[in-house]
Parts: sequence; structure tokens; C-alpha cells
Amino acid sequence: MDNKSFLTPKEIVAELDKYIIGQNDAKRNVAIALRNRWRRMNTPAEIQDEIVPNNILMIGATGVGKTEIARRLAKIADAPFTKVEASKFTEVGYVGRDVESMVRDLVEQSVNLVKAAKKEEVKEKASQAVEDIILDSLIPPMRSTSQKPINTTAENSTSVPQDDYELNQKTRERFREKLRNGEMEDRKIDINVKAPAGNGMGVVGGGMMDETSMINIQDMLNNMMPKKNKRRKVTIAEARKLLIEEEVSKLIDMDEVKEEAIAKAQNTGMIFIDEIDKIAKGSGNSSGGDVSREGVQRDLLPIVEGSAVNTKYGIIHTDHVLFIAAGAFHVSKPSDLIPELQGRFPIRVELDSLTKDDFLRILKEPKNALTRQYVALLKAEEVELEFNEDSLEELAGMAFQINAEVENIGARRLHTVMSKLLNELLFDVPDKIGPNAKIVVTKEMVTEKLAGLIKNKDLSHYIL
Ligand SMILES: Nc1ncnc2c1ncn2[C@@H]1O[C@H](COP(=O)(O)OP(=O)(O)OP(=O)(O)O)[C@@H](O)[C@H]1O
Ligand SMILES: [Mg+2]
Repeated sequence: MDNKSFLTPKEIVAELDKYIIGQNDAKRNVAIALRNRWRRMNTPAEIQDEIVPNNILMIGATGVGKTEIARRLAKIADAPFTKVEASKFTEVGYVGRDVESMVRDLVEQSVNLVKAAKKEEVKEKASQAVEDIILDSLIPPMRSTSQKPINTTAENSTSVPQDDYELNQKTRERFREKLRNGEMEDRKIDINVKAPAGNGMGVVGGGMMDETSMINIQDMLNNMMPKKNKRRKVTIAEARKLLIEEEVSKLIDMDEVKEEAIAKAQNTGMIFIDEIDKIAKGSGNSSGGDVSREGVQRDLLPIVEGSAVNTKYGIIHTDHVLFIAAGAFHVSKPSDLIPELQGRFPIRVELDSLTKDDFLRILKEPKNALTRQYVALLKAEEVELEFNEDSLEELAGMAFQINAEVENIGARRLHTVMSKLLNELLFDVPDKIGPNAKIVVTKEMVTEKLAGLIKNKDLSHYIL
């Protein structure tokens, strides 16, 4: 986060453009929010604590890209990110419970990120150590009678005359070479692996225990159990995999990881609260009624406002966590949220409904576009798939029409339509349609496969 190469707002938008079509207003605002976090980290300490993030409320119909924007944003920022559905807290069994779990999830994510980064740092050193262990198992080292004991990972090395010692050294170097060239990956060796302790000893959590204390007890028990060494015969390739984890964790300082993870979550973390409209007054269908919905909002307040949350990695303050809330607000309006909560989401962005043109672009342009996905899938079978321009126009038009006539599910409609279109093809490859075939999807194909379904409203309700 604090390097000079951090993306500018314009660059962030450009990055989002690779995956999301349109929605420029939303992109601009999340880009500003993200850059602001970097700006804040580069302000003098006395003001840094005062600068609070401008939480964002995204308003837009279903399937127009709200979640996608938030998810991509977190990727760009390399920041801990977690997503919750606000409505889950109103469900039976959840009521009044554990809204803080979203913060714990965030810290968990942060720990994973920090750990992964540290792993990367020590990877080289660890694989060096693994190589030594494997080599020792292949050609145990010897030491010359004329020498002081050398350091080796082997449990014991025998003392031998100088000549033998030199021969041993030479052989070891030859084998080291072979190992590095991957010439012996299938050869079997004996290694010691630590069997994870505590297996089969689950802790039954009573209803009164919260998640944190339960996890702590589990951890404690695991640490108390002696780690047993187990001798196993495995191929060198497997040995590498088994040993590397162990060597990596020896080299990583978990206390450091915890500390860094808490700081990272505190300063760069993002929590995405989806379906926030479902906890607004009068939003209907979720169980629990207005009372419990308002209760959830009240539970959310301190977290969004900034409070200390206890996690198994330490205490995290949520003051500078960025919250992005999203909802369709079909039935309820943002003003149906309790005023205190509304006030905590000062930036409102409305997402546009997607047009037929947007659909066409969504089919073609994003890096993960559906057409690209299916082309890649079939390429795995050595079948070449191509979409004609007018076939895509037809598809986009149909998706738009079904959204208008049946139910508007936004760009998700493209998924259902596309999978229906290609269903038969996907089944016939490779049995009927062999490798090296080339399939061109034409406008006629689209009409043939889908037009009937569209005309029949009852069918399209279920199938598309
Ligand atoms: N503007 C867009 N550009 C590209 N793809 C999009 C766009 N909008 C939606 N999609 C695609 O449609 C799917 C659903 O989008 P997303 O999950 O962002 O919807 P949402 O707005 O969060 O809906 P909901 O309110 O139901 O949660 C995703 O696969 C996403 O890639
Ligand atoms: Mg969503």
C-alpha cells in the first residue's frame, strides 16, 4: 500500500474497465476511495488518525455489477476483503448474533494475504533446505576422521577416512545436480513428516460459546498435543511437496504475521455489505420483521462507526476499514435505513441499468467474458469455437428481451442464455464432435436454439 507505484484513480478505473462495462460513476467513486487510503497512509501521523474513510453506498438493480466492482477493487488493492449479505443476520438463528464475525473474517483474510507474502519471501530458502533433506536421505553425508563434525540435517553422519569423505562429497554434488535437473522425481525415498496432531479430537461448541473462544480452544489443544514424526516412503516429487510446507512454517514468524495482518486489515481492509436494502424498514420478504431488521442495523452501527473487535489474532479497530454497502433498493429506499447508518455511508452511487449494447459488450470485452470462457473450455478439447458478430447481437437482444418480459436479473441473464445455447455442443464434444473441429456460432443457430423458448413464456420462466 505504501509504495509510490500505487495506482492513481485513473489507473484504477482503467483496471476496472478490463472487467466491468459501463458504471463509470461507481468506478470513479471507488477509485477515489481506494486512492484516499494510500493518501491517508502518507499523511503526517497527527492527522492520519483523523481521516476516516468515506464509505460508499452502491444502489442498483440486481446483476448490474455491484459485487463485481467491489471484488475487483479488492484484487487491485491487494487488500483484505470480505463480503457479507446483511440479510443473513436477520435469519432465524442469527438474530442479534455475531455481526462482528465479518470483521473476524476480514482479519482471517488479512492473515492469509500476509502469510502468502511471507511464504513467497522464504520460498527459496525453504526449498534449499528441502533439497538438503532429500539429498541427505539419498546419500547420507559422511565426515572425514580428520575433520570437526560438520553441520548437516542428517541425524548422524559416520566418520570415515579422507578419501571416502571426498568420494561421498563428490557423489552428493552429482546427485544434487540431478535433483536440480528434476531427473529423479519418481525415485522413492524415506522421509520424516510431522503428522498433524489433534486429529479426531474435535471440540464440540456449546450454543453459548462464540466463534473466537471456540477456535482458541481448538488451537490450544492442537498445540498441546505432541507432534508425532512419521516415517513415510514417498517419491521425491511428493517429498518436496510434503517438506516445503514444514520448512516454510519454520521460517515464518507467526507473531509477526499476526501483527502485520491486524495492521493491514485496519488500514487497508474493505468490507462489502451486500443486500443492505433487505435490512431497511419495510423491505418485506426476509423473516424476522422490521424489529429485527432495525436490530441488525443497530448492531452494524458501532462496527461501521469504528470500534474494537476481538479476534483470535488480536484486537482490531475498525475506524479506518472501508465499508461498501450495496443494494437494489427496489422496495425500500436508502432513507428507510436508520439515520445514523445512512450518515455512515456518505457517498451514494447509482449504478445504471444495463442496455442491450452493454450486454453485447459484456459478452465480448471483459477479460473474463463469457465468450472467452467457452472458447477456452473447448480449446481444452482442441475444438475451435468462434462467435459471429451477429450471433452475439442476437444473444444480447434476447437476453435483454427476457429481462424485460420475464424478470430483470441483469447480466446474469447472459449466463443462462449462453449455457442453453451451447448445451448440446458441450455434450457432444468430444464423442460426436472430435478434436480439430471448428464451430462457428451464427445468428441462425441462436434463433434456432432459443427463439422457441422465448416465445413460450412458461418455458422461459424455468429454462432461461
Ligand atoms: N457492468 C458489467 N460488466 C461486466 N459484467 C457484468 C456487469 N454487470 C454484471 N456483470 C456480470 O454479471 C454477473 C453478476 O454481477 P454482480 O454479481 O456484480 O451483480 P450485483 O450487481 O452484485 O447483483 P445483486 O444485487 O444480485 O447482488 C457477474 O458474473 C458479472 O461479471
Ligand atoms: Mg451482488
